[in-house]
Amino acid sequence: MAGSGASDPNRTLGDLDALAAAAARTIEQASTTAELERAETATLGRRSPLAEARRALGSLDPEARREAGRRLNDLWSSLEALVARSRAELARQERVAALVADRLDLTEVVLATVRSPLRRGHRHLVSTTRDALEDVFVAMGFQVAEGPEAETDWYNFEALNIPPAHPARGMYDSFYLEVGEPETVVLRTHTSPVQIRLMEAAVAADSIPIHAVIPGRCYRRDTADASHLPVFHQVEGLVVDEGITFADLAGTIETFTTAYFGPKVHARLRPSYFPFTEPSAEYDITCTLCLGAGCRTCSGTGWLELGGCGMVDPAVFAAVGIDPEVWSGFAFGFGIDRCAQMRHQVADMRSLLESDVRFLRQF
Ligand code: DAH
Repeated sequence: MAGSGASDPNRTLGDLDALAAAAARTIEQASTTAELERAETATLGRRSPLAEARRALGSLDPEARREAGRRLNDLWSSLEALVARSRAELARQERVAALVADRLDLTEVVLATVRSPLRRGHRHLVSTTRDALEDVFVAMGFQVAEGPEAETDWYNFEALNIPPAHPARGMYDSFYLEVGEPETVVLRTHTSPVQIRLMEAAVAADSIPIHAVIPGRCYRRDTADASHLPVFHQVEGLVVDEGITFADLAGTIETFTTAYFGPKVHARLRPSYFPFTEPSAEYDITCTLCLGAGCRTCSGTGWLELGGCGMVDPAVFAAVGIDPEVWSGFAFGFGIDRCAQMRHQVADMRSLLESDVRFLRQF
């Protein structure tokens, strides 16, 4: 080539173009970075035809050598640029392919659980009922409060106008944790002691009025049967403000009853006795099974007992240092478990203690 090129510079340029075109095709055909490495060596390496052509330039006339040299440099640079572009594109394709191959198939997890089912838990009916009751009272402007489950005799009884040896203590078959020194401690038999704690705190903070509901667990030495549990849940209510009357109590109870149980269920208050309220009343609701017609569940009366209520007794105000000449109030307390039972027709209260997920999943 050197000999013939020396005599015909145009031919040399044509040869260079043809070599470069062949080199470009080789580079473009490489479909992996490894193939591209080999194509680069073959087309631009030391033993490539173009490298040979460069070495042969020495035998051309000075004029022809300059021209062919310029052409060769241009072709060389554009081939190097082509290699760089191909390398970037092939590297990108290979990265994507690697990511696709590496992808985690999350549907596998689902398939695995279908094969060996992981059972989901379920919120307890008592918890969902407590939340629903709280929602109704919060919408009516009440705050939600809590108190301890182990209470001293003072909070559970004395401050609630139930002194030692008072016959009303017989209503509460208490679990005693400590008797006498330094003080008597019981598992609270009702949520009413939290009334005392709230009133004490409000007196200390000078923050009466009080509008609060207090849900919580209570304990009595009942043996469990279809309608009694030794551990049960109550929601207590307490309102202390100026000018509160029994009509406020009755209106609040009726509003709650229709909001929670639906418009066909109403409240009835029957005169009763509790040491911490005067006057006191028993709180009944329309039987949720027969809607008042009378059935076995309500012993034909059309009513079911839910809890108690009344106007805060002045003796209770005295125990916490609230002036009954300025303030008056009402209180109520009823069973959360009983609400769940009545709204969902739970035949046996003991199902509520067992936490059997097959039972809970129904609600
Ligand atoms: N503490 C009572 C009980 O467990 C229920 C009760 C009755 C609560 C009347 C009250 C109330 O706040 O005013 O039997």
